[in-house]
Formats: sequence, C-alpha cells, structure tokens
Amino acid sequence: MIKYIFLVTILMTILIACSKDKDSAQVSASYGEKLFQQKHIGKNKSIGCIMCHSLSNEKTVGPSLKYISKRAALIHPNMSAREYIYQSITEPDAYIVAGYIPGLMYSFYKQELTELEINSLVEFLLLQ
Ligand code: HEC
Repeated sequence: MIKYIFLVTILMTILIACSKDKDSAQVSASYGEKLFQQKHIGKNKSIGCIMCHSLSNEKTVGPSLKYISKRAALIHPNMSAREYIYQSITEPDAYIVAGYIPGLMYSFYKQELTELEINSLVEFLLLQ
C-alpha cells in the first residue's frame, strides 16, 4: 500500500512538472495569437504582423490572412499548409502572393524570432 502511494505521488509530481512546462515553453496557437496581435515583435521590437495583415476581409499593406490555412494548402503541390506558412514568415520573398511585390513584407523574422515564436504563429495561422 505504501509503495502504491509512493508511486502515485511520483506520478503526480511528474504530471504537474509537465503541465507547467506547457505554459511557458511549448508551441501553442494561443501564444501565436498573442504574438500576431503585437504591434512590435521579436528581440529587436520590429514591426508586428497585425500592422500589415488583418484576419478579416480588410486588405491592408499585406493580404488578409482570413482562410490562410485553406489557401496555403493549395499554393504548392508539394508543400503542406504548415510548410507554406512557415516559409512565408521566414522567407517572405520565396513566393509572392499575386498582386504584391517582393520586399514588402518584413524579412528578418527568421533571425529575430525564436523557433517557438515562429511555430506558435504558424499554429495560430493554421486555425484561420
Ligand atoms: C510590412 C508589412 C508586413 C508585415 C509586418 C508582415 N507581413 Fe506578411 N506579408 C506582407 C505582404 C506585402 C505579403 C504578400 C507578399 C509576399 O508574398 O511576400 C505578405 C505575405 C504573408 C503571408 C502569405 C499570405 C498568402 O496569402 O499566401 C503570410 C502567411 C504572412 N505574410 C504572415 C505574416 C506574419 C505571421 C507576420 C508577422 C510575424 C507578417 N506576415 C508580417 C506584408 C507584411
């Protein structure tokens, strides 16, 4: 019986430790949403996504990202929506959306954001 209680205690401790990790250091769409809405982002406080992209039908500097997950899946036959969105953030000029010109999107996010931040933005955009 004591052995059993001991085991349960250890298991609970591990579970609690893991769930704490989840809040601080894991990729999540909710963290991505928070980042997306910031006017400044990354270690150099560069211009944020929301300054150029809406999530509604409104077209601002860049294309609206409403339904981006659906469009992203259709752009390259051999690229998933996840890969396309990741590339759009890290190498914006690799593919230019029709009607836009290269060099418009801020192109240093790969250097200024952490992988955790980029992947959280991707998770969030996959829900749009
Ligand atoms: C200075 C304005 C600007 C900022 C800031 C900006 N973008 Fe963009 N973005 C653009 C423009 C313009 C395009 C279209 C041209 C192109 O394809 O590069 C674009 C394209 C994209 C696309 C592809 C859209 C499609 O329909 O295929 C995604 C995804 C994207 N941006 C995500 C982001 C995210 C996430 C951020 C913030 C980390 C961000 N952008 C910040 C201007 C911006």
